[in-house]
Amino acid sequence: MPEPPSLVRVCFVCLGNICRSPTAEGVMRRLVAEAGLAERIEVESAGTSAHHVGEPPDRRAAATARRRGLRLEGRARQFEAPDVERLDLVVAMDRENLRALRALAPDAAEKLVLLRAFDSETEGEPDVPDPYYGGPHGFDDVFDLCERACRGLLDALMERHGLAAERS
Ligand code: 4NP
Repeated sequence: MPEPPSLVRVCFVCLGNICRSPTAEGVMRRLVAEAGLAERIEVESAGTSAHHVGEPPDRRAAATARRRGLRLEGRARQFEAPDVERLDLVVAMDRENLRALRALAPDAAEKLVLLRAFDSETEGEPDVPDPYYGGPHGFDDVFDLCERACRGLLDALMERHGLAAERS
């Protein structure tokens, strides 16, 4: 009997888990579904801070996603050190959160990456800017950036795990 295919588990991490990481989670989940890989790649998100635990996505992030045909789901939760053991890749939205993750999981450095490492137009900027205190324009920029970088991330995961798109 062949082994059942193993799941690839990815978690996006920002500070509050109400703006950037739920956006990346929603964008990535849609890309994964479009590639026919929903049974192979599992996507989730979390925050390094406990500040907004239990809250739904920020209404500005949700409105931006809705305009792009995407419903953001879930409630904010805080990333915890044991999470790293069941995950294949933990994708930080900026260097500050990457540092926080490294402090939480010092033995799992190879699983911790920046989202913009997969952005084809990064232009040397490693961070997804925090839109929380900015105007609504910032949320559109975050959405565009997540779409671009998540495409790159999906390509990288497919290559690394030998996955082929199963488009119907
Ligand atoms: P996120 O945005 O990390 O993208 O979810 C933020 C949400 C809340 C705060 C900062 C950033 N805050 O300072 O409360």
